[in-house]
Parts: sequence; C-alpha cells; structure tokens
Amino acid sequence: VLGGAGLAVAGCGGGRESAGEFLAGRVRLPEPFTVPLPIPEVARPVSPGRYEVTQRVAAVEILPGLRTEVWGYGGTFPGPTFELRRGAPAVIGVRNELPVPTSTHLHGGVTPPESDGYPTDLVVPAGYSSPHAHPGEVRHQVVRDYRYPVEQRAATLWYHDHRMDFTAPQVWRGLAGMALVRDEEEDALPLPRGERELPLMICDRAFEEDGSIRYPHAAHHAPGHSGGGHGGGGHGGGGHGPADDTHALDADYMEGVEGDVILVNGAPWPVAEVTATRHRLRLVNASNARRYRLRLSPGGRFTQIGSDSGLLAAPIVHDAITMAPGERYDVVVDFSAYPPGSEITLLNTLADGPAGKVMRFVVTRRAPDDTAVPATLSRPPRRPRPVATRTFDFRRTNDAWTINGHRYRPGAPLARPRLGTAEIWRLTSDFHHPVHVHLAHFQVLARNGRPPAATDAGWKDTVDVRPYEVVDVLARFDGHRGRYMLHCHNLEHEDMAMMADFEVV
Ligand code: C2O
Ligand code: CU
Repeated sequence: VLGGAGLAVAGCGGGRESAGEFLAGRVRLPEPFTVPLPIPEVARPVSPGRYEVTQRVAAVEILPGLRTEVWGYGGTFPGPTFELRRGAPAVIGVRNELPVPTSTHLHGGVTPPESDGYPTDLVVPAGYSSPHAHPGEVRHQVVRDYRYPVEQRAATLWYHDHRMDFTAPQVWRGLAGMALVRDEEEDALPLPRGERELPLMICDRAFEEDGSIRYPHAAHHAPGHSGGGHGGGGHGGGGHGPADDTHALDADYMEGVEGDVILVNGAPWPVAEVTATRHRLRLVNASNARRYRLRLSPGGRFTQIGSDSGLLAAPIVHDAITMAPGERYDVVVDFSAYPPGSEITLLNTLADGPAGKVMRFVVTRRAPDDTAVPATLSRPPRRPRPVATRTFDFRRTNDAWTINGHRYRPGAPLARPRLGTAEIWRLTSDFHHPVHVHLAHFQVLARNGRPPAATDAGWKDTVDVRPYEVVDVLARFDGHRGRYMLHCHNLEHEDMAMMADFEVV
C-alpha cells in the first residue's frame, strides 16, 4: 500500500484531491481504450413487477486474457440494470449463494425501512453460522424479498451491498449495479434513448498478477482477529464474522481504498463507438473512495439534465464534473461537435497516471438526430420551509471516524425528523466525506456560507463534503416512517463506523 499522505494535508487547497490509500495492482495493466464498453443486461421480471437475482461467485474476464473471481448480483459485475417505472411497485427477490451475509440497499430509493438494506438486516447463505451477532441483527435464510414502491421521480439510482462492517470489501468484489427509474415527465422529453443512452458505472479496482481482485487485508478482516466461524476464509477480506471491535481504525485503509485500474461497467478504460449525435450518459461513481473530476479531451461540454434524485428544472452546462463516491450525474454530450473519426477521451483530472483516464468515445459517422435538450426539463418539487436545523459533524475523534463524536450505534438514532417536514442539515467535516442520506432527498443550500457549486444543483442524496467545509442542505422527509441511516459513502469510512441512524416519526 502506497500513499498515506496524512489527514492534515489530503485534498486541501486544490491540486491533488485524492482521498484514498492508493493501491497499485501487481498485474500488467492492459492497453487503455481497447476493450469495448459493455452494457449491463437489463433485468427481466419473472412475473409482472417481480424480479429475482442471485448473488453468487463467478469468474469473469475483466482484464483481457485473465479470469477474475467476482461476487456479483446475477454473477456479473456490475449486476443487471433494473428498469423501474414510477407508479409500478417492484419486488426484487435476492438469493444469497455467496460465502458471506449481505444486505442490499437501493441507493437513492424512497424505500420502506424494512427493505432499505439496514446493515444488520442480513440475508445469510445456506450453512452460514457465526455466533457473533450485532445487537438487533436479523438473519433471513438464503432469500428475501425487497419491496420498492417506486413512487419517486425518474432518476439514476444504483444498488449495492450494505452489510455491517463489510460493505467496502464486498462492494469492491463486485456487489453493485444500476437501477433507472423512468416516468411520464421524462418520456415526454426528446432526450436521446435506446443505444444513445449509456449507463456508465465508474469505479476503480486493483488486481493481482493472476487477475484476482486485490484489496488490503486489514487487520480486522483477518482470520483469528475476527473470530468468524464459517468457511469463507479463502475469499480474503469480508469472509469473516463480525468481531467485538470491528470499528477500530485501520491504518491499512484509513483514508479509503483506491485502485489503479479504472473500470466503466466493469471493463478497464473501455472504448465506445458513437454516432455524431447527442448521447445521454448516466454517470455513477460506484468507487469505494475515489473522487473524479471528469473532463472531455480534446475539449467538450457536459449538459447536465439530472442530479442524484431526478431531472433538473433546466439544463446546466459544465466543462468539468466532480463526482464523489455515490453521486450520479445525468448528462448529454453532443458528439456532432466532432468530425467522424474523432477520439474523445473522458479524463479524470484528479489523478495522474492510469487513474487519470476513464474511457474513450470514437465518433463513427454522422447520423440523423431528432433529439434535443429542452430549456425546461421538469418541475421538481419546490424547496419546502425547514422546521429545524441540525448539525452532523463528520470527523476523526479518538482515533475513530465518527459522526457527532459517535461511532455507529445501530438502533440509536441521532435525529427524529417528522414525516412530511423538511430540515436544514449542516454537514461539517475534517476530510473528504461524501455524505449520503437514505430516504431523504436534499438540495445543497450553501458551502461555507457561500452559494453551492454549479454541480450541486437539483435534488440529491449524496454530497461531496470537502475538508473543513460546512455544507448546508435542505432535506425533506417524505414517503415512509422508520429507521434510516446517514453515513459517509467512502465505504471504508462507512465500515469504520462513520454512520448514524435517524428515525422518521
Ligand atoms: Cu450507497 Cu447507505 O449507501
Ligand atoms: Cu468519510
């Protein structure tokens, strides 16, 4: 493990804004822009409104010529894309054939608490037994149904594992995929669709020489320390039961884990052929800890049409988009600005070297294009008047990643907002903490008392809180009562207990 720049210097004042412990893989890196961009399968319902997906171990080819074992929804990485429609409730039956328990969270979903992927609400595989249980832990044997009412606006969502203490290693092994909610408001717009709508799940990973996924073997994931009682040991980090103190800080991945290979839809630095027309890109940062500043080279613009939680009222044009883990940007790029034959590279200007490149588009030919980005896209909900203000301080205290001084305590909510109200949540931090709130969507009101960034526009569920920043968001608590979480979406920080419950009452 390289890096370890230290908390005090990381990310302050421009320049390198990297947050993670950089993990150089041991494999020879493939030539960028040679692997074709894969598009994840769209999940097919087994009956109207019902899907079934099995989490299993599978061998896939990520690096050309090498086999990589992944833990995937449906045995793929990313998992299948769920196409959901507002007003059409969906049930997703998840079967766990992995060696470890899981919990599935639909990120950005307005979901009842019992289907929200609470970290101790587990699906355990056949034969799994561990005497170590967290207080309040629930174990569903092998399968369970997650129920999604899908009453929310069209938006780019994603889903991933959320198991207590082990989210980071389990997502790193592949447990993530996309979900798109569509609705009539979006249908009515002349946006690019079909082959001209590309879901792009971006994440970094590191690999061993033999193609296996590399992850730091942190002390609290090691056998012997954790006392885990089942046979998952051969799978490395994440294969062990919870320990008495799994929340201890671990220097091996204190700042989160970053790999040197950038994957888009599970392929390393892929290439996509596009006609010289508008394309809609659904950008998801599914990385554990890596932030990206995306730019087009040799130049170009992103017309943002949607944020985490749905379409913007009006498009916003950006030269660059910074994405923290968990965030989504729904953008249109007009490739008619480039002559056929052009190669347009999507860069990450926050990194040098291999992680500074993401993917490439090759413009094939001119083609008819009857799409447009209208000046008015949607009528998002207005900002309600807040009834309370609360502060959540994301900070390293007593050698732990904490919120308001506490490590995660399941079942001990830090706030009880009332259903149907809105509150100002002031998020403060000592480091890069991408703060994600379950259930509640929010708008960024201010950063350090000043207006938010252009890329903060719209309703969101994850916000990039930067070192020593004070970010005010207006959150609305609609849809469901019950127990939810807010946490840092640097997944290593999440596992190191930078999470808290809140209860909508
Ligand atoms: Cu995407 Cu609680 O997480
Ligand atoms: Cu964090």
